[in-house]
Amino acid sequence: MNIVLLGAPGAGKGTQAAKLIEEYGLTHISTGDMLRAAVKEGTELGLQAKKYMDAGDLVPDDVIIGLVTERLSQPDTANGFILDGFPRTTAQAVALDAELGKLERPLDAALLIDVKPEVIVNRLCSRRMCRECGYIGSVADAVCPVCGGEMYQRDDDNEATVRNRLDVYEKSTSPLIDYYRGCDLLVSIDGDRDVDVVYADVKEALQ
Ligand code: AP5
Ligand code: ZN
Repeated sequence: MNIVLLGAPGAGKGTQAAKLIEEYGLTHISTGDMLRAAVKEGTELGLQAKKYMDAGDLVPDDVIIGLVTERLSQPDTANGFILDGFPRTTAQAVALDAELGKLERPLDAALLIDVKPEVIVNRLCSRRMCRECGYIGSVADAVCPVCGGEMYQRDDDNEATVRNRLDVYEKSTSPLIDYYRGCDLLVSIDGDRDVDVVYADVKEALQ
């Protein structure tokens, strides 16, 4: 099963991806996680990406397309993958189609997790992540409930940056909803409900 997860920042893509991975053993390809790892390691890519990420702007298409193309060539993606946070522009979607065509591994679905902007600002300003295992939680988690690790706030989870990320989503990424509708791959799910209720719909959509 090869899936694209679409949705605004904070819609719950990472939260739903974690559940799908656990249940179906798919490979998680999160461009945001890959970029944050590069920033942490201080690589050339990380140095280049950090200024865009801190401002809530998109990293240039050629950089991201190269990163994902390389990732898709790795053997652990052959049994199915979830793309989380990619594609984010029409150019990225076109490049992805071309690459998956070459690999003869077409997409099975583009799942849109749909949540209104007002809900998102609150969610992201109170999100906390585990430094050790990547668990996605909230300000209510003093330590990670999975591994006991330290919870931290992402540099781009402040109100001003979140509002810019939402504008960037509206302008650059939301056209992909029509793009995937046109390919007959789009399934839209109301993401403003309990996590497990959303997940039940995600699973049903993939049957
Ligand atoms: P990225 O890391 O992809 O961030 P994002 O798209 O902004 O998405 P988030 O990780 O913020 O949100 P999410 O939808 O995964 O929500 P989550 O499950 O955590 O990208 C970061 C940056 O990297 C970009 O700004 C850009 O600079 C760069 N970048 C990445 N990919 C790129 C690309 N392809 N091209 C160019 N640049 C790129 O949930 C959020 C919170 O809500 C959590 O606290 C969670 O616990 C809570 N929550 C989740 N579901 C629910 C629910 N149903 N009810 C209540 N709370 C919920
Ligand atoms: Zn943890």
